[in-house]
Amino acid sequence: MANESNELKIGFIGAGKVALALGSSLRNIGYTISSISSRSYQSALSVASQISGCTAVKTADEVVHDCNLVFITTPDAAIGRVCESVSWRPGQMAAHTSGADSRSVLDSASSQGALTGVFHPLATVSPNGGALEPFCGITITIEAEPPLLETLEGLARSLGADTLRLHEENRSLYHASAVFVSNYVMALADIATGLWQEMGFEKQQAEKALLPLLKGSVHNLDTVGLPACLTGPVSRGDTGTIKKHLGSLEKLDDSLSITYRALGLHTINIARRKGSITPKQAEDITSILNTWERSYD
Ligand SMILES: NC(=O)c1ccc[n+]([C@@H]2O[C@H](COP(=O)([O-])OP(=O)(O)OC[C@H]3O[C@@H](n4cnc5c(N)ncnc54)[C@H](OP(=O)(O)O)[C@@H]3O)[C@@H](O)[C@H]2O)c1
Repeated sequence: MANESNELKIGFIGAGKVALALGSSLRNIGYTISSISSRSYQSALSVASQISGCTAVKTADEVVHDCNLVFITTPDAAIGRVCESVSWRPGQMAAHTSGADSRSVLDSASSQGALTGVFHPLATVSPNGGALEPFCGITITIEAEPPLLETLEGLARSLGADTLRLHEENRSLYHASAVFVSNYVMALADIATGLWQEMGFEKQQAEKALLPLLKGSVHNLDTVGLPACLTGPVSRGDTGTIKKHLGSLEKLDDSLSITYRALGLHTINIARRKGSITPKQAEDITSILNTWERSYD
């Protein structure tokens, strides 16, 4: 264990999923998690009881007074307000764990001489703490000023995570990328299961049937990678099938067709990179996807 683990006294403001997972994981590898506060004392007590040596305190100020590294793990919208509500010391370290916000939401701490940073685990942290080592193998992106930068990188590496430094100007693109692979995959799954309900199946039947397909796609992405892992009608240049899909979707809801078209147009780029369709086929599919007709079938 790095000597630094002995010098750090870590605290949390906001006793939720991330505080529990991060606090208990850091504790398990030898770091001192000294205190935690939350909006409700009950939440602080609950998380503290699951982290050895951690004390639940009533106010955020008590955490800041007690610790030299404080993670603000409230919902994103509360981070700035919480940071402004407490008194920071020069040299103290403050970090939040949001992927959407840069470290500028902690400006009230820097103006009092504290070092500020962002420590974002690029993962879904589950309500019950989830996996035994939830940060092992994931990427934690860090935006911070030295020497907090090195301290946060050290913490991330001790947790078995990879680290990436993120510049403030890339924050929105970075977070949008996470929304695409996480939230919007859920939106696509919802669209797909909805089509099964249109066919008269139960939602559970749809999920059971489609999940292996989704898992197979993720496996192929992981093992084969883009663009080679692309399959399907766009990849094959199958314009007849694409027209049939559009015809059926438009009978249900124009928004389904709009989504299909937008994703199809991007998929053409992948198929071209894969080399599975010719420039002429790409042009034909582009024209079908950009043309709004109602007589495909
Ligand atoms: N969950 C994830 O998968 C994940 C992954 C990466 C990053 N993050 C980020 O990590 C941060 C925390 O997320 P989370 O999922 O742990 O959230 P969460 O489970 O909803 O927990 C947030 C906690 O903050 C407390 N809180 C709310 N307002 C507060 C305030 N004004 N002062 C003090 N405490 C307050 C809540 O309090 P009470 O219970 O006391 O009412 C709640 O327990 C967010 O910035 C989020 O974007 C989350």
